[in-house]
Amino acid sequence: MKVVKDLDEADRLMKEEKLEKAVKKYDSILVNNALSPRAHYGKGLTLDKLGFKLQNNDFLEQAISFLGRVLDIPDAPAALVKLAGQKTAERQQFRGWSGKAIRTLKTLTEKFPDDIGLLNDLGMNFMMVNQNDRAKEVFTKVLSKNPLSGFAKAHLGFIAKINDDLETAVKMLDEGIKSNEEGTQDGRFFLQLGDSLLRLDREPEARKVYKEAEIKGLFLSANQRSLYNVKQLTGRPWWTLEQTGYQHFLKMLEDNWETIRDEGLNQLNSQTGSFIPEEENLRETGDWKQLTLYSQGRKKEENCKKTPKTCALIDQMPDAKGCRRGQVKFSVMSPGIHVWPHTGPSNCRLRTHLGLVVPEGPSIRVVDEIRTWTEGKVFVFDDSFEHEVWHKGTELRLVLIVDFWHPELTQAQKRRLSPI
Ligand code: OGA
Ligand code: MN
Repeated sequence: MKVVKDLDEADRLMKEEKLEKAVKKYDSILVNNALSPRAHYGKGLTLDKLGFKLQNNDFLEQAISFLGRVLDIPDAPAALVKLAGQKTAERQQFRGWSGKAIRTLKTLTEKFPDDIGLLNDLGMNFMMVNQNDRAKEVFTKVLSKNPLSGFAKAHLGFIAKINDDLETAVKMLDEGIKSNEEGTQDGRFFLQLGDSLLRLDREPEARKVYKEAEIKGLFLSANQRSLYNVKQLTGRPWWTLEQTGYQHFLKMLEDNWETIRDEGLNQLNSQTGSFIPEEENLRETGDWKQLTLYSQGRKKEENCKKTPKTCALIDQMPDAKGCRRGQVKFSVMSPGIHVWPHTGPSNCRLRTHLGLVVPEGPSIRVVDEIRTWTEGKVFVFDDSFEHEVWHKGTELRLVLIVDFWHPELTQAQKRRLSPI
């Protein structure tokens, strides 16, 4: 069979990375075999490789189109349809086409209703776009087909935690993790299991979970639970100003604290709605609002117009202003608040707090040391370590939070690290 021979030859060219030649070969096959599933699949994979090599989205988009067509070819071999479909969805996701990826996976799950791997992919895709109710349906279906699926349990536990159903979260996350199935040994599951246990007042069990994740290398340590890390950076809960190397800038903030306070208070009192409530479900009780001036290394022009002097000061601090893994923000807490123990996402930043309005009553614990704020003074901690905040007083507390790049990062790392 000439076609089979030609296809083998084209596949070989692709494997040898002779990509342009491979494309030509597939094209020549398609002239007389316009519905060849293998030629579509092969050409799609080759275009994908070309796109990757040349960093070119046109090729990637053509690859997606060719791979996707395999699904519509009548009588295409099932195994190839599945492979091509999974690859299509994966590349659509990569291209940022979440909706398309989900549609592809839906088509595939309809074609192969008993394929648990496809359902799992679909569930994860729903989670990526925060369609957790849909994801829950899909993973529940997986569990009905395979009651032992640790993968489905871990994801259902994760969703339960987001929905604040802590009991279910603990049960499912625990069973999911214990299954040891591929995809379950993920720091996020350990993080949410520990957090659920803590909130249920089961601290000793939470500590065990965190320790286990440390031993498995999923956390830097039981107390330092950030998941976007650069290895080998010095990690300690509290830093002296001298240890940061930023003392010059930090002193400048202290020298100007009243100006900063007045701008913050002005926004708070004018009630322009620029302070936004914390939305990460970190609070047990109380109000906590923030006015963000910089985020992911970008200035929020709208807000900086409202607090120009503060932003002018920050603009003099390249490692704060440009910290793509941090923020600069005013943070106001009402009396009565309790913020659950939590950790920030990354060890690549250090967090400065400048006390602006500090009544009696608030305190912050970072690992095992509790401190409070002083008006006009800064302290620095590493928020990738566990911290917890209370305010047992009667007046509101206002601080300015300024994140800096970790001082041990090189210029090249600061340039290349992805924003968070
Ligand atoms: C933090 C934190 C905020 C505050 O800065 O990471 O959790 O306003 N506390 O005290
Ligand atoms: Mn925090």
